[in-house]
Amino acid sequence: MSVGIDEISFYTSNYFLDLKNLAMVQEIDAEKYYQGIGQEKMGMPAPDEDVVTMAANAALPLIERVGPDAISTVMFATETGVDQSKSAGVYVHRLLGLTPKCRVVELKQACYSATAAIQMGCALVARQPDKKVLVIASDVARYDLGTPGEATQGCGAVAMLITANPRLVELDPEVGNHTEDVMDFWRPNYRSTALVDGKYSTKIYLQSLKHAWEHFREVSSLAFTDFQHFCYHLPFTRMAQKAHKHLARINHSALTPELLDLQVEDTLLYNRIIGNSYTASMYIGLASLLENCKQNLAGKRVGFFSYGSGSVAEFFSGKIVSGYEKYLHGDRHQSMLEARSEVSYEEYLELYNDTDPVDGGVHTKTEGTTGRFRLVGISHHKREYISC
Ligand code: CAA
Repeated sequence: MSVGIDEISFYTSNYFLDLKNLAMVQEIDAEKYYQGIGQEKMGMPAPDEDVVTMAANAALPLIERVGPDAISTVMFATETGVDQSKSAGVYVHRLLGLTPKCRVVELKQACYSATAAIQMGCALVARQPDKKVLVIASDVARYDLGTPGEATQGCGAVAMLITANPRLVELDPEVGNHTEDVMDFWRPNYRSTALVDGKYSTKIYLQSLKHAWEHFREVSSLAFTDFQHFCYHLPFTRMAQKAHKHLARINHSALTPELLDLQVEDTLLYNRIIGNSYTASMYIGLASLLENCKQNLAGKRVGFFSYGSGSVAEFFSGKIVSGYEKYLHGDRHQSMLEARSEVSYEEYLELYNDTDPVDGGVHTKTEGTTGRFRLVGISHHKREYISC
């Protein structure tokens, strides 16, 4: 029996800022963003959107197919948690009408936690193959204005069904890990934006890739040449291209730079125009590969490198299942991305500054989302969500 990803659906906000407008305000060449970091647009949540509404939007198409009683566990991965105690997944559980017999939990380890959720989901369904685990990763990437990280903001949520005999990707049990206590990127509880030592974080990302790969090679019989495609964590798309060349060098690969780019390029298309969505980003990259690769991917092996600052990294592998193309949500994802509205720099600042109140008063959120769920307000410190 195999276990893995049976279905994948993602959501991002209907607003984006084109990075050429950020570059114009900063009086720098837009090519630094378009070429240098490989990002074109960044998603900005509407005032009435957060990780909960994005997650519910991402998961809804999966629940509409399998029915609300089919899910035995929801694992909600985020580093943009809305509460220190209550799991964001419990709000999603109600919005999706899931059964009270379903367990719900939230996981955190920067951009890595969705991978932990998937591995735990695989373990659960390996033990009880009739169960379906819903893994949701949802994040809003926020940095201080005027910092190098500003251009790498974004937002998005991805929902995946983890099942036995999956229809999209069979995941192998062997994984390579690397954990190290470092301060490359972090967000103390009292801050709404991340702190980051940018250059250092890219160095740690690459070092972690090497260590996780070496561990993977100790436990798996698969070599670099066994993989046709690679999905990397995507803080910005150039990071994946750099990481892949780094891994190729470590493995003394004979592939040309052009062939190496081909092994990652289909994974980058969505993230280039959504921006960083932290723990969701690698899996939006997987959707991008499955939905945009011109070749049939059946039987192809994919290498995954998941990285969460602080830091925990994992290299793991999967095989694309024959017939996978019948179960994708590509048309809906494309329509959603095409229907988004561009905001001006001034409108971007308004969205950026629309932070949650902390005074316990009665606050109503301005309408803005075109999604199916809204955060209508925060009153007496309680978040109020509705289905539209
Ligand atoms: N045309 C083309 N390219 C240009 C250019 C132009 N006019 N001007 C500059 N560039 C290139 C530079 O040469 C550089 O390319 P190389 O890296 O290949 O040398 C690239 O654009 C970026 O330029 P800088 O290095 O000057 O950029 P920066 O220092 O202002 O910012 C960054 C880069 C530090 C990564 C910043 O984006 C940042 O802090 N990002 C947030 C942290 C992050 O994403 N880290 C990634 C690893 S941690 C992680 O993955 C977890 C996570 O999700 C946060």
